[in-house]
Amino acid sequence: MGRLMFSALLQFLCLSSVAVWTVRGEDPYLFFVWNVSYGTISPLGVPQQAILINGQFPGPNINSTSNNNVVVNVFNNLDEPFLLHWNGIQHRKNSWQDGQLGTNCPIPPGTNYTYRFQVKDQIGSFFYYPSIGLHRAAGAFGGLRINSRLLIPVPYADPEDDYTVLIGDWFTKSHTTLRKILDSGVRSIARPNGVLINGKIAKGDGTDDPLFTMKPGKTYKYRICNVGLKASLNLRFQGHTMKLVEMEGSHTVQNEYQSLDVHVGQCFSVLVTADQEPKDYYLVASTRFIKNVLVGKGIIRYTNGKGPASPEIPEAPTGWIWSLNQFRSFRWNLTASAARPNPQGSYRYGSINITRTIKLFNSVSKVDGKLRYAINGVSHIDPETPLKHAEYFRLSDKVFKYNIISDEGPPEGSTSITLAPNVVNVTFRNFVEIIFENREKSIQSWHLDGYSFFAVAIEPGRWSPDKRSNYNLLDAVSRHTIQVYPNSWAAIFLTFDNAGMWNLRSELIEDRYLGQQLYISVLSPALSLRDEYNIPDNVLLCGLVKGMPLPKPYSI
Ligand SMILES: *[C@@H]1O[C@H](CO)[C@@H](O)[C@H](O)[C@H]1NC(C)=O
Ligand SMILES: *[C@@H]1O[C@H](CO)[C@@H](O)[C@H](O)[C@H]1NC(C)=O
Ligand SMILES: *[C@@H]1O[C@H](CO)[C@@H](O)[C@H](O)[C@H]1NC(C)=O
Ligand SMILES: *[C@@H]1O[C@H](CO)[C@@H](O)[C@H](O)[C@H]1NC(C)=O
Ligand SMILES: *[C@@H]1O[C@H](CO)[C@@H](O)[C@H](O)[C@H]1NC(C)=O
Ligand SMILES: *[C@@H]1O[C@H](CO)[C@@H](O)[C@H](O)[C@H]1NC(C)=O
Repeated sequence: MGRLMFSALLQFLCLSSVAVWTVRGEDPYLFFVWNVSYGTISPLGVPQQAILINGQFPGPNINSTSNNNVVVNVFNNLDEPFLLHWNGIQHRKNSWQDGQLGTNCPIPPGTNYTYRFQVKDQIGSFFYYPSIGLHRAAGAFGGLRINSRLLIPVPYADPEDDYTVLIGDWFTKSHTTLRKILDSGVRSIARPNGVLINGKIAKGDGTDDPLFTMKPGKTYKYRICNVGLKASLNLRFQGHTMKLVEMEGSHTVQNEYQSLDVHVGQCFSVLVTADQEPKDYYLVASTRFIKNVLVGKGIIRYTNGKGPASPEIPEAPTGWIWSLNQFRSFRWNLTASAARPNPQGSYRYGSINITRTIKLFNSVSKVDGKLRYAINGVSHIDPETPLKHAEYFRLSDKVFKYNIISDEGPPEGSTSITLAPNVVNVTFRNFVEIIFENREKSIQSWHLDGYSFFAVAIEPGRWSPDKRSNYNLLDAVSRHTIQVYPNSWAAIFLTFDNAGMWNLRSELIEDRYLGQQLYISVLSPALSLRDEYNIPDNVLLCGLVKGMPLPKPYSI
């Protein structure tokens, strides 16, 4: 298709950019047409190239309800391949739509790809972002919310309004410059230049437009996600407390917090009541665990407000022990119903026997003089053929080997790193314990696609089996991201019941870009449509399977 035709087609489709309709007997559909292009923004006062979606930075919000079918036709008007990932969306039976290099070919410049997925049995606050080429450093991320179905009770009163707050560190260097730095392998991208809230930073000189407004006496829901590249952020509302109600898809016990540590990739929903003197207040997000704290600010305005926000910014906590204690205060609300009518606590994860324990150690080292990050001594590289496609076309042997890392981790003291596609094979429906052990001095943030898991423990020191006696086996929150403090470990539990090829990664963009990720292959032995969908008919093929006819579909 020629560029001109592509553009005309896009123009035609954009006229009806968001549409909703219901086909009889099916869950409702939400349709989006997105034009991904470069644009210029100056969030820190310096003009820089950004990646926009339909001209917006951050990109448009997706407002969906459990079980909606979401169809997003993405037109790549960049000069580079592009891919979007839906962070925290489980894509039941459907890793084909996960938007990672292990499951999808990137969308070539000047072409489009239509994602089709269902937000099945999920509620909560999520976000999407570009998963390749350090594009996230340039934008193209946005909020994705999944509302509860009408018939399922939500454990708090309907808020007056529902706001999306995307916080993140920001660099004034372009994604291409940052990529060159990492590709050269000699140094890190170093420190960010600022912190943005919804793509902006308030100057605090009285000229700022408010990010959000609140009517006096009313309660608002704020959905907060850290969409940044590497910095953990502390978020707080000047003069107001937050009531935590949801975390990465689970209703939590509703504790009050003065501030929240939000690590890269994490999302929280809080309720804030406008119960203070009517004026402006700052919403503050500041970096944690790095020298020279960077502070991002936005204005919250009372509708009857008189007067500017006080210049005194509430102080952030210091040290990571505070953060660890905050993690321990997070609890699952056992009696609340989430996406399904049954209470969350009816799934008693604490009484299921562990069938496998996988220990994952992060490390960093130079390989042939270039910086690489690894898991259990293997630094992942993406083959040109997506791993999932290699598996589906029965060509895995030509593309990767399963299980090249050991569940026990690398031998004690070993620092060597090998470059290879890193694929772990897990038995369908096994209940598995994963330990993340961080022996480095920096904080880690881990994310698993396709699942949520029980974050049962984080502790300083080294893990050993006797530490299991300290796990929270009752009301740990089911979520999809977990931080690991320096010289500490974290433990998660999950049942691998979602067939597919799922990325497990460091959410820190440098670590991930330079190899700190792996894929978990979960195949149903039956290869049945009951357990996993067929490759979609609009699939983009690349690498070894480019131009090949699709294999015979899975049987029923
Ligand atoms: C897509 O975005 C590019 C860059 O802003 C613009 O030139 C083009 O007209 C847009 N296409 C449509 C159909 O809006
Ligand atoms: C989001 O969708 C819900 C359910 O359809 C609707 O009630 C709400 O008004 C929508 N919110 C926005 C901001 O569009
Ligand atoms: C590109 O957009 C057209 C027009 O909507 C659509 O028919 C086609 O399926 C899209 N291509 C892919 C690969 O999804
Ligand atoms: C938990 O959910 C229940 C049921 O929806 C609700 O009534 C209760 O207030 C919630 N408890 C806490 C501590 O948040
Ligand atoms: C779990 O393991 C224990 C000890 O090996 C065994 O007694 C018990 O029956 C197992 N429970 C289940 C549900 O398999
Ligand atoms: C993956 O694991 C399953 C179950 O343990 C096993 O049957 C299968 O042979 C393994 N596949 C590979 C390629 O290792």
